[in-house]
Amino acid sequence: MIKTVPTKPFADQKPGTSGLRKKVPVFQQKNYSENFIQSIFDSLEGFKGKTLVIGGDGRFHNREVIQTAVKMAAANGFGRVLVGQGGLLSTPAASHVIRKHKAFGGIVLSASHNPGGPDGDFGIKYNISNGGPAPEKITEAVFARTKVIDRYLISDAPDVALDRIGTNEIEGMRVQVFDPVADYQALMEELFDFDVIRDMFAGTFRMRFDAMHAITGPYARAILEKTLGAPEGTVVNGTPLPDFGGHHPDPNLVHAKALHDLMMAKEAPDFGAASDGDGDRNLIIGRNIFVTPSDSLALLSANAHLAPGYAKGIAGIARSMPTSMAADRVAERLKVKCYETPTGWKFFGNLLDAGLATICGEESAGTGSNHVREKDGLWAVLLWLNILGKRKESVENIVFQHWRDYGRNFYTRHDYEEVDTERANGLMNHIRGFLGKTDIPPLGSKTLVKSDDFAYHDPVDQSDSKGQGLRFLFKDGSRIIYRLSGTGTAGATIRVYIERYEPDPAKQGGDTQAALSDLIAIARNLAEIETRTGRSAPTVIT
Ligand code: G1P
Ligand code: ZN
Repeated sequence: MIKTVPTKPFADQKPGTSGLRKKVPVFQQKNYSENFIQSIFDSLEGFKGKTLVIGGDGRFHNREVIQTAVKMAAANGFGRVLVGQGGLLSTPAASHVIRKHKAFGGIVLSASHNPGGPDGDFGIKYNISNGGPAPEKITEAVFARTKVIDRYLISDAPDVALDRIGTNEIEGMRVQVFDPVADYQALMEELFDFDVIRDMFAGTFRMRFDAMHAITGPYARAILEKTLGAPEGTVVNGTPLPDFGGHHPDPNLVHAKALHDLMMAKEAPDFGAASDGDGDRNLIIGRNIFVTPSDSLALLSANAHLAPGYAKGIAGIARSMPTSMAADRVAERLKVKCYETPTGWKFFGNLLDAGLATICGEESAGTGSNHVREKDGLWAVLLWLNILGKRKESVENIVFQHWRDYGRNFYTRHDYEEVDTERANGLMNHIRGFLGKTDIPPLGSKTLVKSDDFAYHDPVDQSDSKGQGLRFLFKDGSRIIYRLSGTGTAGATIRVYIERYEPDPAKQGGDTQAALSDLIAIARNLAEIETRTGRSAPTVIT
């Protein structure tokens, strides 16, 4: 039976960079998830009888909300729901399934790389029929709806058997529980030369993939070990756990330290990689060398033609504004455009749909292409493997050669996490006061060419997005950028992005923090970070 349940609005359901993210106890409040899901449905039109994809990264509270979402989809009139077995579906796989099965949209339950467990984070995100995150037009409508919602619709049917592949029915709606890996793996086999990679594993080439007890475990085991012949044990932490084994499923040098240490050790394998909670991010480390996500974007773009899926070349590159400008140089050489968008994958969707960009990336360990409308961790790993198999060189050589050819963009991001929100806003306002000025004492001898609050005009739908980050651009190509995170769940996170271009091969070696030390000092002084936040050092440096 379909029930109409009266409810009252929650004031804090504004979707951020990537859907609604809150602590688990917030989502456990009565009607909290229901309100948000109903607000999504109320903001959409024309889905009666259509298909909805539902899945999540397996974190704590995943199964409960999957059941709720299925019963609400049935009550709201969807014709079919596709649910990943066990309620599992990586974010890129969800994007692919939405596209392949011509679904109306999808609900993805994830808080990405944020920690999980009873006190961890949870999230709900809506993706549209192109497989990508809902654009701002929709997320704003959802937010508006959450402020006035007074009822939701739900079926009182018993729970769906999530672990059994097969078809069930609720209120006349078909519920198909499917294998979350199969469609995705088939797509990867179309894009990449699996024979070349298989040959590599048949020889001496060895890798380690750290799934961080998150969603990519089953995908990586099926593809790397079972299909490509990598030895068993190549994939570590391969079983998804509701609390990710107590770790942050964030593939950076802090949370994937064990992988980094291994790759820097004498007995390091040839290639190391990791992915995050929901499988859309990637970490790439060669023996002896960490590849920054910005460099990885540039390198993958420059070498993509070595993979069958991109053999005809790429139409364009897109990067988020704070991502280093290394990709711009590749685009220039390939004679294609490089688009600069605000932070967040949703801004790439239009460019990909319109065929303007083929490969996209963000400094935050996200890379992907037009094969789906999300970033894709395993895709990046497989493209790297395909390139390594074709070039038969080490990661280190490939990166050094790239720097010699194009110059090196030294790049770092400093995060100050869980800063008091008012103080963080005060700091941003203080920086904003410098915009457009020429006399800024903390800049010392650096010559400023431009400072602004980044705004983006979408060339496809002509929409404008303002207030996307405070930028200071210098004459020598260096940049300092400040923004507040839109994905955190406690206080505010200040992100400071610092970049310097080095064309001279003789000066391209050495430690990144040292190479950027003068800009780092300027960035701290300009923002008065220490006095305003009380922090003498960043929480995380990437
Ligand atoms: C962060 C990253 C951004 C990414 C997003 C979702 O957002 O910076 O590049 O798209 O997570 O994975 P932020 O917290 O900076 O708003
Ligand atoms: Zn993620």
